[in-house]
Amino acid sequence: MRYHIITFGCQMNVHDSEKIAGMLTELGYEKCDSAEQADVIVINTCCIRETAESKAISKIGSLKQIKDKHPEKIVAVCGCMTQAGDNSQKLSERFPFIDIIFGTHNIHHFKDYLLERRELGKKVVEIWEREEGAIDDVPVLTGNSVSAFVNIIYGCNNFCTYCIVPYVRGRERSRPFEAIYSEVKKLIEGDYKEVVLLGQNVNSYGNDIGGMKFYQLLDKLSKIEGKYRLRFMTSHPKDFDDNLIRVIRDNERVCNSIHLPVQSGSDRILKAMNRNYTAADYLKIIEKIYKHIPDCGITSDFMVGFPGETDEDFKATLDLVKKVRYNGCYMFVYSRRKGTPAAEWEQVPDEVKKQRIVELISLQNQITKEINREKYLGNTFEILVDGKHDKREGLYCGKTECGRLINFEGDESHIGQFLNVKVTKSATSALFGEICA
Ligand code: SAH
Ligand code: SF4
Ligand code: F3S
Repeated sequence: MRYHIITFGCQMNVHDSEKIAGMLTELGYEKCDSAEQADVIVINTCCIRETAESKAISKIGSLKQIKDKHPEKIVAVCGCMTQAGDNSQKLSERFPFIDIIFGTHNIHHFKDYLLERRELGKKVVEIWEREEGAIDDVPVLTGNSVSAFVNIIYGCNNFCTYCIVPYVRGRERSRPFEAIYSEVKKLIEGDYKEVVLLGQNVNSYGNDIGGMKFYQLLDKLSKIEGKYRLRFMTSHPKDFDDNLIRVIRDNERVCNSIHLPVQSGSDRILKAMNRNYTAADYLKIIEKIYKHIPDCGITSDFMVGFPGETDEDFKATLDLVKKVRYNGCYMFVYSRRKGTPAAEWEQVPDEVKKQRIVELISLQNQITKEINREKYLGNTFEILVDGKHDKREGLYCGKTECGRLINFEGDESHIGQFLNVKVTKSATSALFGEICA
């Protein structure tokens, strides 16, 4: 029996799919590469933007043909999109061939739903309105043998006015320190070379359980013996504290890399977004990071076209991008999410949003090119090789400590190794290098 999982969305969702794979493995299923070959097909959806939803919906639609020919195959749909509002009902009506629909809060029950469908022939649609605590006893089948995700906190309490996440992932629930520590230790002992700690806002770790703070957790984890890297995401600027900078600086195993989404450079917009910091507060943090960790790779998320964003607000965003000189950025066009406050406000016209995103991306591309020349080209970096290039045969890739991807000519034996690579060529976002002796 074989399964195929299609995942949309963020690392949190990728990791949830690893849990679904873990449950399927326990039931005796093996992974395969296409829906055509699979007995169980799972679509794990995202609804952060309309485009993410459309992609998932068109994927679900494309399964109809397969189900028509092979009605015995089981199609399951889950994730943030099914959790939101009355989407589960709508999906069930629009695609009656879906066998199982569940949400983000009851993912640990997937095994029961699958057995119900398989043994009793029952269609299952089950969404839980509320989250339980931090669910801990789900098996995980990691996607690769080099780098692994570990959840430290689930959910989000921030309610940024544009964002659907708090509605589909529930309130903050921190996992107990012991559970995180033993999971990370087991991974390191199992020869994983990188652990990525996950949370919508890792900096609020511990607040709900009155336990240790995030910087203390990171410090304790980094004392586990071995050669490996620790990364974490995502940090929220409003909760970023100086202790964290110290822990990153003083612990070799904690990567000098921070994803610190700012969203906008305009104080007016930041206030309307409910982000609870100003551009000046943010720049102060950046200044401190660069002061203590000069080679730190800082990345961010940006949004253009938030309701009410004027040309002046947008210019403030451009100014901030110029000041920080990010190691890389994710840039999005604001997308109206039903049920969030900003969806009800006066919207920025689509053409304006388009112009702004093009301008912002081109500015960051220019900066990336300059940074590539100044900081990377001709220099040697230690990378952790974690896979092959998507398209080019013989090309392998790995990340520098500060998070940049370098491609190089290598072979299968390099996967999982720390290698010194000299950067010899750079394209806008990609770097190419050669292995050094
Ligand atoms: N928890 C993280 C990120 C969550 S979602 C944080 O607080 O930063 C990842 C990114 O998607 C966000 O940083 C934001 O830039 C973007 N995003 C969230 N909601 C969006 C929306 N409605 N439209 C466009 N982009 C959105
Ligand atoms: Fe969404 Fe804001 Fe929470 Fe991030 S912090 S998940 S952007 S509500
Ligand atoms: Fe992630 Fe998308 Fe859900 S970004 S938390 S999978 S809405």
